[in-house]
Amino acid sequence: MMAKTFYLTTPLYYVNAAPHIGHSYTTVAADCLARYHRLNGEPVFFLTGTDEHGQKIEQAARAAGLEPKAFTDQTAQTFHALWKTLNISYDRFIRTTDADHIHVVQRALEQLRPQLRQGLSTFFYCVPCETQWAPSDLADSQAPACLSCQRALERVEEENFFLALEPHRRWLAAHLAAHPSFIRPDVRRNELLALLERPLPDLCLTRPKARLAWGIEVPFSRAHVTYVWVDALLNYITAAGYGTATFESTWPADVHVIGKDILRHHGLYWPIILRALGLRDEQMPRVIFAHGWWTVGDQKMSKSRGNIVDPTVVIKECLKDQPYAADVYRYFLLREVPFGQDGNFSEEAIAKRLETDLANDLGNLLHRTLSMIERYCHGRLPAAGPVGCAVDDVPLRDAALGLTKHLDERMARLDFSGALEGIFQLITHANRYIESQAPWQLAKASDSARLHTVLAVLAEVIRIVAVVLDPFMPTVAEAIWSQLGLGETPRRLRDTTQWPGCTAGQPIGTRAVLFPRKP
Ligand code: MSP
Repeated sequence: MMAKTFYLTTPLYYVNAAPHIGHSYTTVAADCLARYHRLNGEPVFFLTGTDEHGQKIEQAARAAGLEPKAFTDQTAQTFHALWKTLNISYDRFIRTTDADHIHVVQRALEQLRPQLRQGLSTFFYCVPCETQWAPSDLADSQAPACLSCQRALERVEEENFFLALEPHRRWLAAHLAAHPSFIRPDVRRNELLALLERPLPDLCLTRPKARLAWGIEVPFSRAHVTYVWVDALLNYITAAGYGTATFESTWPADVHVIGKDILRHHGLYWPIILRALGLRDEQMPRVIFAHGWWTVGDQKMSKSRGNIVDPTVVIKECLKDQPYAADVYRYFLLREVPFGQDGNFSEEAIAKRLETDLANDLGNLLHRTLSMIERYCHGRLPAAGPVGCAVDDVPLRDAALGLTKHLDERMARLDFSGALEGIFQLITHANRYIESQAPWQLAKASDSARLHTVLAVLAEVIRIVAVVLDPFMPTVAEAIWSQLGLGETPRRLRDTTQWPGCTAGQPIGTRAVLFPRKP
């Protein structure tokens, strides 16, 4: 049997405006996870893309004086460009305007058709969130406000096609109870369980073309287009090859990484749609992880406040002196806030991480070790002396060899900051080891056997660090690797439990400062 591909996704971002740090956060986190699984030798399929239909996009296109497709062709490019800057290793960038996706949406609607009710129903609609609320969801129907963004809602009374969610409520609650990892972290799982305590209103799957033309036409009603969220969610099965042989080896999604704002759509609508399409329990997504929200100056980012942070500006302007600026940014996002919690973005906080963790700890470890190898070993990786690891070396060696176990546990929980914390504890440990072993004194005392052992131990630790940093900071990992002289050798997770892994006598590469300090 073919190995199951590790399949992970980001949300499809709306292309009404340029991407900001929030979008980059989800994508960087998913990229890190994809790279970790690849480093582990697993087949991976990493999907991201853009959500291009619906009222919000239609309005933005109109405001820009363009046809919706011409408008989305332009704005989808800004996402492409940012993912390139951030080294996002997606396997497919899907657009909801792609032909195969349109085909899957229409096929799915045909399949759902016998379960749909056609009729006139009233609901309330939030255009910025493209989300519908039933009158029973809202406390005050006189001045209804979106439960997610608090903006005023449109009242909609139209002839549409509806899917009843209520018949699925018990099953979904039981699925959540039986699969504690289905919705993560626990605070979001509890939020969803609470939603499942009350009857669920029907989900409207369509919009009349008379109101909204920009959408995927409903195959059995030329007067309707597909509701944008239904269209967008189905992308996850389009990309997995729904209706083809690939689907079996790719689906279910192992992880849908999302923000906490779209939990209801992913935790409620999505499994019910899959179920209504005839997918079984074991074909439900395995993990839906809803991360927290980035604020700026402790406030929500918004156009009206003018506080939207553009990642390109952070990378190209705030970090312009850094050769690995995109990696510094990735490191900051993944290290600063435990995944799942909210965080506050500031340039000062990035500068602090850069100075302390990256320049002082990681940069120094590499710089000191390689300059001593250059000076005391003619620039060639030393062999450990005849005694090999002595008592003083064992704790550091064991910590390095135990790191992958720690990382496996953390990454299985999407605990990126915990994983990085473990890596940086090892780096701190190695820096302390330099101080305690004082190789410069060993050189003075001409104790070359011990001197070579100490430097060989350090080179091994750096080798392991370069491998495990790969998912978080791919270009920094590459740079450390080539400075160590390991050049074309692939970085593989399984080699981090080998000791030694470097070949004694191999020349180190060209040294360069990883994280230069401001002049
Ligand atoms: N198009 C829908 C998703 C459809 S998925 C089938 C959508 N798009 S969005 O452009 O609004 O992006 C939402 C996602 O961007 C959030 O779920 C989150 O992952 C990310 N973020 C947007 N703003 C954010 C913050 N301020 N902070 C953290 N992430 C946020 O919803």
